[in-house]
Amino acid sequence: MKTLTTPVFCAIDTASLEHACALAEALVPLGLGLKVGMEFVNAFGPQGIEKLCEASPDAPLFIDLKFHDIPNTVAAAVRTLSSYFKPAYINVHASGGRAMMEAAKTACAAPTRLLGVTVLTSMDDAALRDVGQHDVASQVERLALLAGDCGLDGVVCSAHEIKTLRTACGKDFVLMVPGIRPAGAAADDQVRVMTPPQAMKAGATHLVIGRPITQADDPAQAARDILKTISN
Ligand code: C5P
Repeated sequence: MKTLTTPVFCAIDTASLEHACALAEALVPLGLGLKVGMEFVNAFGPQGIEKLCEASPDAPLFIDLKFHDIPNTVAAAVRTLSSYFKPAYINVHASGGRAMMEAAKTACAAPTRLLGVTVLTSMDDAALRDVGQHDVASQVERLALLAGDCGLDGVVCSAHEIKTLRTACGKDFVLMVPGIRPAGAAADDQVRVMTPPQAMKAGATHLVIGRPITQADDPAQAARDILKTISN
C-alpha cells in the first residue's frame, strides 16, 4: 500500500510523459506525492498513470479529475479508478449534491480517500451569482459541510479558506490546498497565494505545489527547500 505521510503533492502538469516520470523518480524518494489532473489524463490516458506508477511504485497519488455527473455514473468512475489505481485521493464536485457524493463514497474502494471540490478558485462572487449561487465564502463553507455530512474525507480548498474550514469541519477533515508559493517565488497565474509554512500553520493537511518545483532548475532541490520550511 502507498503510504500517506506526505504533506506535499507535486502537480505533474507537463506535456511530456518522460518528463513526468523523471520528476516522479526525483521527487517521490524525498517523500512527495504526485497529483495528475485532466491535462495529464487526457494527454496520456490511464496508460500514462500506469507508466507514472511504474516509474515510482510507492508514490502517493492524487488523481484530480473532479467528477461531476449523475450519481450512478460518478459512482462507476470512482469505483473503477479507486480499485484499479488505488490512489491516495480522488475527487468529485461537491455541487453534484448529496446523492452523488453518497454514491461516490460508497463506491470508493479503500484505501482511497474521497475529496470534494467546493468552489473553483477561478470563480468569484460575480461568477457565482451568474449561476445562481451564494457568495464564495458561504458557498465554500456550505459545500464543505455537505461533503463532510456525505462521508467524504475532506475538500480541496484555497489557502484563504483553511482557517474557516478547519474550524467548521473539524481536525480530521482533509484540507488539500493548491495556490502555494515559497517566499519570493513567482506567483505565475495564481492570484491569492500563501507560503508553505503559512498554509500548514493555518491548518492545511496537504499542499499542492506545481511550477515552483517542476520548473525549477533542480526540482529535487526545490522540493527539499520547501520541505525544510515545513518540517518541525
Ligand atoms: O503550478 P501550480 O503550483 O500553480 O499548480 C497548482 C495545481 O493545482 C495545478 O495543477 C492546478 O490545476 C491545481 N489547482 C489550482 N487551484 C485550484 C484547484 C486545482 O491551482 N483551485
